[in-house]
Amino acid sequence: MNKNLQPQVKLNNGLLIPQLGLGVWKTPNDQTAQTVEQAIINDYCLIDTAKQYGNEAGVGEGLKRGLAAAKRQRQDIFLTTKIFNGDQGDYDKLRAAFNQQLVALGTDYVDLLLLHWPVNDKYNESWRALEDIYRDGQAKAIGVCNFNVERLQDLLDHATIKPAINQIEFSPLIHQPEIVKICQENDIKVEAWSPLGNGRLLANPLIAKLAEKYHKTPAQVILRWAIQQGIIVITKTTHANRMVENAAVFDFAISPADMEAIDQLDEEKHSIWYDKFKWSGNPDGVDDYIADPDHF
Ligand SMILES: NC(=O)c1ccc[n+]([C@@H]2O[C@H](COP(=O)([O-])OP(=O)(O)OC[C@H]3O[C@@H](n4cnc5c(N)ncnc54)[C@H](OP(=O)(O)O)[C@@H]3O)[C@@H](O)[C@H]2O)c1
Repeated sequence: MNKNLQPQVKLNNGLLIPQLGLGVWKTPNDQTAQTVEQAIINDYCLIDTAKQYGNEAGVGEGLKRGLAAAKRQRQDIFLTTKIFNGDQGDYDKLRAAFNQQLVALGTDYVDLLLLHWPVNDKYNESWRALEDIYRDGQAKAIGVCNFNVERLQDLLDHATIKPAINQIEFSPLIHQPEIVKICQENDIKVEAWSPLGNGRLLANPLIAKLAEKYHKTPAQVILRWAIQQGIIVITKTTHANRMVENAAVFDFAISPADMEAIDQLDEEKHSIWYDKFKWSGNPDGVDDYIADPDHF
């Protein structure tokens, strides 16, 4: 990938974010250093992790090795992590936990810090801590994940600083138009997680047909569909050849008619595990969620 071909998107505080990045959900910590190193060598500029993924130390190691191998600097990489649900709701606890995340990542700032989930009764207090983390320069931008219209509106009613990003599930299988609309109206950029439907979309017959038509792979067609709508995309792979493949999506365009055909794949259904999250401030719901790392 030629990194110069990769567009950047301006966030509402002026910070530029690469439009495509690598996520490391489900990448075991002992494979993460190698994966992140490979991504940096292959010109990736954005790495997305979370405390919940259990691989921030691997990301830190991969960052160090990748930057040395590629002769790149820390500021060339846009690093995102997220606040763990169990650390939410208590200002001091959240800030102490985040300081430990920085240690694991081997850096004194992240480019983007996100609330991983809108845990009821806790997200507004958590946001207050994120605002101070931002003011103190430990995060260059702050945002949220998985906020629906109601919760985002509530956060905006209480916030001093607007979120820069809402990272949501977004792919041809799930478009979430209502939340995308409110984000656009508030200059909050939408960032897509599971843009390949966690791999589910790769064998779709329509996608295969379009891949043949555009001389691209199924993954490239799916990622291009989101990119072409101005969405920031985080995709996951542990394979270097797929990293290169997934990033080569800035040299072709899908026609409006084919964009519409892909739109028709919409099922407007979240991944199965999503509905298991109880959106709850009640410890049972949150504990269920935290206990099963496969569920996010
Ligand atoms: N904020 C949140 O709540 C949240 C939730 C979920 C995810 N995320 C973030 O979003 C990132 C992306 O989501 P995701 O991991 O679900 O998935 P994804 O990018 O939609 O799909 C990843 C799957 O597709 C495979 N794959 C990737 N590129 C491929 C290619 N070119 N050809 C064939 N197979 C390919 C990967 O396998 P291999 O690894 O074997 O190549 C993996 O099984 C996560 O890593 C995480 O950073 C955030």
